[in-house]
Amino acid sequence: MEMPETDKALAQLLRAIPYLIMMGCFFAAITYIPSRREHEIKLQKLRLEAQNPKQQDETPKPSPQTSKNNELPHPPPLKASDHLTDAKHHLLLAATGSVATIKLPNILHALSHHPNLSIRILLTPSATTFLQSQSPEQPSLPSLLAIPNVEAIYRDEDEWLVPWTRGAPILHIELRRWADLLVIAPLSANSLAKISLGLSSDLVSSVVRAWDSTGGLIDKPRPGVALPYGEKRDRKGILVAPAMNTAMWNHPVTARHLAMLEEWSVEKGGWIEVLRPIEKDLACGDMGGGAMKEWKDIVGVIEERLGLGSTGGEEEYVAIKGGKLAK
Ligand SMILES: Cc1cc2nc3c(=O)[nH]c(=O)nc-3n(C[C@H](O)[C@H](O)[C@H](O)COP(=O)(O)O)c2cc1C
Ligand SMILES: *[C@@H]1O[C@H](CO)[C@@H](O)[C@H](O)[C@H]1NC(C)=O
Repeated sequence: MEMPETDKALAQLLRAIPYLIMMGCFFAAITYIPSRREHEIKLQKLRLEAQNPKQQDETPKPSPQTSKNNELPHPPPLKASDHLTDAKHHLLLAATGSVATIKLPNILHALSHHPNLSIRILLTPSATTFLQSQSPEQPSLPSLLAIPNVEAIYRDEDEWLVPWTRGAPILHIELRRWADLLVIAPLSANSLAKISLGLSSDLVSSVVRAWDSTGGLIDKPRPGVALPYGEKRDRKGILVAPAMNTAMWNHPVTARHLAMLEEWSVEKGGWIEVLRPIEKDLACGDMGGGAMKEWKDIVGVIEERLGLGSTGGEEEYVAIKGGKLAK
């Protein structure tokens, strides 16, 4: 019996469904795993756009719904061994959920002038909320990626982008291997507590927890690259700049956590250096201790530890129209 035309069409459509699903999966798979080449192209594009900002007549209004501006490409998988001989200093720069995260653009800008520095940024989920182009001093994450020397920005989800299989790189381990120096500026009260107690529930604290506490038995120095610590400049380390509200700072638990970090200080042969907060009017309206050390001083310490020499790039970075960065 002849099927009516409409039923035939329907039957064909039904038969095509599995193929459509397979094709969908295929395209999802090839677009899911970002290649390093694609990442390079995206970085170049972002940098070009930052250098030649398009004229826009509308100043963006601050809005809590700015997450669209904040869409960030997922970085490609990292293998530290691919970067051993790149003749660059490797700075892993983390920010956690303190208001002082808004100083990150200034720090990055100041460090962008060094020709032989490579920076990878780590952000906790709270830290990302401070950088959504909601104000001129708070550019979007993509615009940070456009700053020279910034190779990638990693967030917690990047650890789990591709379901792990044997032999695949593990992001927090590769980041540790890659880094000559890990800087956590600002270090929030929460992240201070976590790292002193050994919790490792996010990317930043996992890198800290997986740090080579043997002073180089696990991570060998790279030939020709001075490391931040040790008499022979042969030790990696973690530099932290706590930043919190005065009441948080004065709370007795803070002293306990700091004392734990200081037990592992580089002065005592350990791997941690603490840049203590300063006193000033805090963003929350309280006056007192707990403010992050001045960003320019932090830049100075980073340059000194990595042996970079100062380049005087200390102008503040302020986003202009359209969330682009400018001096
Ligand atoms: C607007 C705002 C500002 C904050 N500033 C700070 C701060 O300066 N220092 C701090 O330790 N926590 C601050 N917090 C609280 C932290 O963001 C919160 O404890 C968060 O859980 C920290 O998470 P993280 O350590 O994983 O980044 C602030 C929270 C908000 C909403
Ligand atoms: C990077 O440049 C600085 C300043 O010129 C220099 O002292 C340092 O040795 C260089 N580092 C590497 C790894 O080449």
